[in-house]
This record gives sequence, structure tokens and C-alpha cells, in this order.
Amino acid sequence: MKQFQIANGIHMLTMNVEDILFEGIWEIANGVTLNSYIVQGDKTAIIDGVIGWDGIPEALYENLKKIGVDTKNIDYLIVNHMEPDHSGWISNFRKIKDDFTVVCTEKAARMVSSFYGEDKIRIVKEGDILDLGNGKVLSFHPVSNVHWPDTMYTYERGTKTLFSCDMFGAFGKMEDHCFDDELTPEETDFFEFEGIRYYSNVMATFTPSLRKAIEKAKSLDINAIAPGHGPVYRKNPQKIIDDYYRFSLYADGAGKNEVTILWGSMYGMTAKAVEFVEGILQREGIKYNMLEMPQKSESEMIATVFKSAGIIIAAPTYEYKLFPPVAAALNELGRKKITGKLAFRFGSYGWSGGAEKELKEIIERNKMNWDFIESVEFEGAPREEDLVKIEAGVLELVEKMKEKVVE
Ligand SMILES: Cc1cc2nc3c(=O)[nH]c(=O)nc-3n(C[C@H](O)[C@H](O)[C@H](O)COP(=O)(O)O)c2cc1C
Ligand SMILES: [Fe+2]
Ligand SMILES: [Fe+2]
Repeated sequence: MKQFQIANGIHMLTMNVEDILFEGIWEIANGVTLNSYIVQGDKTAIIDGVIGWDGIPEALYENLKKIGVDTKNIDYLIVNHMEPDHSGWISNFRKIKDDFTVVCTEKAARMVSSFYGEDKIRIVKEGDILDLGNGKVLSFHPVSNVHWPDTMYTYERGTKTLFSCDMFGAFGKMEDHCFDDELTPEETDFFEFEGIRYYSNVMATFTPSLRKAIEKAKSLDINAIAPGHGPVYRKNPQKIIDDYYRFSLYADGAGKNEVTILWGSMYGMTAKAVEFVEGILQREGIKYNMLEMPQKSESEMIATVFKSAGIIIAAPTYEYKLFPPVAAALNELGRKKITGKLAFRFGSYGWSGGAEKELKEIIERNKMNWDFIESVEFEGAPREEDLVKIEAGVLELVEKMKEKVVE
């Protein structure tokens, strides 16, 4: 765990977590940070306390000491969001100190009680204020369904700092650089992709609510955005607001000027056509990403499809249906409400086919509303005439995807 001052009287504590499945599902290749914030006026508040993944709060207490905060003097625990990655230490804290108040929304209050048995709770509503003294004034702004229904922003008026919790967050561990103005261009790119990974894996289902939260952030006068995961934006907070808006468009079918090939092949028949398509994309100078399933993690798969303007699905028939790892990937994209993508599918079959029928069913059932160029199915190995059709499909995709590009 590390500590940084982000403004006079405001500190961040941050720790890297690796080798976990985030939410019990996501293999996060580059880890994640958990950030907590301490605001000191005459009274002290801690926003989104962090314990790490092991449930041991000692690291938090030790680090509080290093920034001159005696845990005995913490008066308020601000719970922006009840998910245990932000609130999991409350019960431990209650064991060592009894006279503090949890501050949260009404929906969070119910969960703080049911998860941790808390009853010293102050429920806040839009615009409510907590004056900590000495110029530190917190205001609260619910942003329902930014991940969970209970979520709120906390805003410090004196320093104009927005503590945004999951909103504007990113996966990816932080080494020495935790502020936007310290990031190298490579680190900026790294956190942009980790932001896309976070948005697409964790938040995409809630895109309409995230758009409302973007509007609410815009209505506040912001000097710095301090999220629960990832870097703090103090030089250019507008950048992460704009990025999140762009990500919300990716959820509705827009994407970067790149193609993703989501594919799988049992005996290399479909793979022959994939190789052929790679040659076309290289010839046309189109950036493309390869997602061979099931080898790639679901986290990587969702983030990569999410950010692409054109999707190629290459998968054969398996037991009268779509090759299961690719079917599973598409179902997962449907659950995340990744809609409106431009796509083209081809694949091999042996005798009956059936992959195409299931593909349509998945798209329909999940109301994904993907825009498909006519598919190409071939018996056994792709013949010359199949490759001609596949090339035409790829070129049509490349042409049509121009309308989807938002960089
Ligand atoms: C386990 C298994 C199940 C299959 N089920 C079907 C099927 O139901 N209908 C069909 O037309 N072909 C079926 N096939 C044949 C494949 O679709 C065919 O071999 C195709 O060329 C595989 O392409 P790939 O080498 O890219 O995996 C099946 C093959 C396997 C190995
Ligand atoms: Fe969350
Ligand atoms: Fe979180």
C-alpha cells in the first residue's frame, strides 16, 4: 500500500491487487488498484476504505499512521458503493472503534446492515452536505446503477475533488505514477486499455446509468477526479470524462478503427480461412486483433471486441450448433449488452451445418442488434469460390465500419 497527498488535507491510499479473479470471474492480466481517500478537516472522513483481498485491515491502519491519521480519530466512513472491494473492512474497523458514523445512500444503508450488521448510519440524498470543518465540506450525489444501485459520488467543495468510486475507474496496477500528469505516453495508453477492460468487463451492462453519471459529473465544477480504481486525474479530469463517454458509444456498436477476429477451429478448416483473412487485412493496412477461443481469457475477449468497429466471427459447426467457445463468448457479450456491432461470420461444417442458426439465436435472444454482412459457410476445407466470397465479406465490413469509427 502507498500513500500520496492529492490536495491539502486529502490523501490517497492505494494498493495493487494481482492474481485474483475480480468479481470471482475476471482474469485481470495486469491487476487492479484499490484506492481509499482520507479527507481531514477538524473531523476526519475516510472514503471507500481498502483492506486488500485478504480481509486484513492492518496495512490500512499502518498507512493511515504514516499520513498522520490515528484510526481513533476517524469520525466518518463514507461508503460510496457497498461492493466489498470498497467496504469490506467495516466490520474489522468496528472491532477497534465504536464511535464512527457510516455515511451512504438509502440503498447502501440497507446493504451495510445486511452485509455487516451496521446500524450507525447517516443516510444522504442528492446535495446533502457534511461539513468537516477547517474548510473541508463534502457533498453527496447519488449515481444509481453505476455498477450497483447504491452508488454515489462524494465531492469536496474546497478543493473541487470528485471521489467517483467505480465511475471513471480502470484496471491495471500502478507503480510509482498515480496521477495523470505523471504518466508516460505508454502508461497513458496502458490505462486507456485498462479503462476499456474495466468498463467492458464490469460496467458495460449499466451504460444508460453511466451516461447519467457523466452528465452529473459535468454539472460539478471539478479540479480532480479521484476514482476507486486506477489513476487520479488532476491535470485534465475532462480526459477521463470524455473517455468514458466514448466507451459508452463502444457499448452501442461504435469502436476504434480496428477489426477483431473472434475465432475457433477444431481441425484447422476454419483456420485456413482465418489465415486468408489476415492476409487481406494486412494488404488493406487494417489494424486487427486475434481472439482465438477458448485460449483467450473472457476479460481480454470482451475488452477487445468492445473497442473494435468491425468484428469477424470465424467458427465451425459443432454438434449442430456454433463452436461452443465462440458461442459462449457471444453470449457473454450479450450479457454485457454490447450491442450494434458490425459483424461478418464464416465457418466450416461437415454434413448438416447449424452454427449459423445458433449464431442468429444468440444475437436475437440477447437483443444484441448486431448488423451482419451475409455469412459464408463452407463444407470441409474452403475452396477458391468460398475464399472469393469471404474476401468480398471482409471488404464490405472494412468499408461499412468507417461509419462506426469513434477514436
Ligand atoms: C465434435 C464435433 C461435432 C461436429 N458436429 C457437426 C454437426 O453437427 N454438423 C456438421 O455439419 N458438422 C459437424 N462437425 C464437423 C465439423 O463442423 C467439420 O469437421 C469442420 O470442418 C470443422 O471445422 P474446423 O476444422 O475449423 O474446426 C463436427 C465435428 C466435431 C469434431
Ligand atoms: Fe463495483
Ligand atoms: Fe470497485
